[in-house]
Amino acid sequence: MNKPVKKAVFPVAGLGTRFLPATKVMPKEMLTVVDKPLIQYAVEEALAAGIEEIVFVTGRGKGLLEDHFDHSYELQDLLKSRGKDEALGALLASLPPEGNYSFTRQMAPLGLGHAVWCARNIVGDEPFAVILPDDLVQSRVPCLRQMVAAYEKTGANVVSVMEVPREHTSRYGILDPGEEMGNLVEIRGLVEKPHPDQAPSTLSIIGRYILMPEIFDHLSRKEKGAGGEIQITDAMAKMLRPQNFYGLRFEGRRFDCGDKLGFLQANIVFGLERDDLREGLLNFMTEKTL
Ligand code: UTP
Repeated sequence: MNKPVKKAVFPVAGLGTRFLPATKVMPKEMLTVVDKPLIQYAVEEALAAGIEEIVFVTGRGKGLLEDHFDHSYELQDLLKSRGKDEALGALLASLPPEGNYSFTRQMAPLGLGHAVWCARNIVGDEPFAVILPDDLVQSRVPCLRQMVAAYEKTGANVVSVMEVPREHTSRYGILDPGEEMGNLVEIRGLVEKPHPDQAPSTLSIIGRYILMPEIFDHLSRKEKGAGGEIQITDAMAKMLRPQNFYGLRFEGRRFDCGDKLGFLQANIVFGLERDDLREGLLNFMTEKTL
């Protein structure tokens, strides 16, 4: 039987330069889609996939993230005294079970691969998930839950994948695809940010991974790749054979909220899903003056 995936790593130590000045003092992962920070969507997705332990890899200036997942006694007391029970309930419901959250620190933003490596002692010798909170997925079944099902079926490393326009391949990790089995694609090779002319396909990895602990052996070499950063894609490419990797064509729609356009789109789409906002938003978007 495959070992269950119980831990999820959230690398949140990046600089978020594409969102300056918003991210000068506020972590990118605290950017809000409608009324919830990105990090909370990501944690809720993990819990809905059966994850029991949450591991944040934070960095300098990321204290707000820790505070977000803690009690705010003054605010709670105030809401209680004013009879705002609904708001208080929502606030308390967003708190994690005590002791199931841990924080480790990436002391310099050397790349996503390095951030994941910083979680090695907490993860230990078991398969684990990685979620990049700036990739927000709207789906019927939470994206990570779809991936856990694929892992249970294959016992292999699984990444979520989607088609991207060829001119965008230099932004993503791209697959060299093998055999297709339903919504799973066998991965023969992986390249980080290839030039469109050299990309082996237009199938891109999004920020969701289920990885075997052997990835840490490869990451510990700290080899630099695209952009001078330690890339998770390079470590995965080195693990291919003997390890198996599958790309999951997940059901759903992904928004790159680390990018301004993707972030705005996410706010519109998630706003339209809300009964209290849908009509007003639609009216506004169809106004002739826009
Ligand atoms: P991005 O590639 O979007 O990088 O990181 P970034 O540095 O945060 O943003 P830009 O490109 O400068 O605007 C994807 C995820 O990996 C984390 C980020 O916090 C984000 O959640 N990350 C990235 C780290 O934790 N450490 C790193 O060294 C790099």
